[in-house]
Amino acid sequence: MIKATAPPFAHSDIGMAEFDDAPGRDARGPVLQLKLAARPASVPQARSILRQLLCEWHLDQLSDTATLLMSELITNAVKASEDDACRRKLRCKIIMASIRLSDTGLVLEVWDANPAAPVVHEVDLTSDGGRGLLMIECLGDKWGYHAADGGKVVWCEIAFPS
Ligand SMILES: Nc1ncnc2c1ncn2[C@@H]1O[C@H](COP(=O)(O)OP(=O)(O)OP(=O)(O)O)[C@@H](O)[C@H]1O
Ligand SMILES: [Mg+2]
Repeated sequence: MIKATAPPFAHSDIGMAEFDDAPGRDARGPVLQLKLAARPASVPQARSILRQLLCEWHLDQLSDTATLLMSELITNAVKASEDDACRRKLRCKIIMASIRLSDTGLVLEVWDANPAAPVVHEVDLTSDGGRGLLMIECLGDKWGYHAADGGKVVWCEIAFPS
């Protein structure tokens, strides 16, 4: 895992330049960019780094929600990278995550190499899965996705406490 702090984004070899419709893209706040293996082990790594960072930023109040939503975003990105259409490509071995502040909140962005879009499922009590995006929708304040660099970025924002 490579960890870097660099406002604005330090562009990597796969590029992170196209986060243009996520909130506060132009804001020059602190940013942490993570390059992670597209493996389940990256989920607790990202969670732990995020928790530490929020503590440093005095945003501990957002920590529980943020770590949960980051886990969902990264888990989905790992699954998408293992998709048949993707997994033989070298690019699918990594995912990228960024943690930054906009004018209104904390923004989490996760890139994976699979261009397929996330789809919110209708679920009922008996459904096995399909709750990750619903959690992001309910616990976050905004979320979205857009194509980037042959894959896509899925992002969410958690508003600062009022
Ligand atoms: N990063 C992604 N890339 C491609 N498809 C995605 C991505 N994230 C989500 N999806 C699609 O959206 C669907 C809904 O995602 P969601 O996280 O809500 O449910 P899930 O991952 O299937 O189950 P759960 O998160 O409850 O374990 C997924 O089944 C998948 O088809
Ligand atoms: Mg999920």
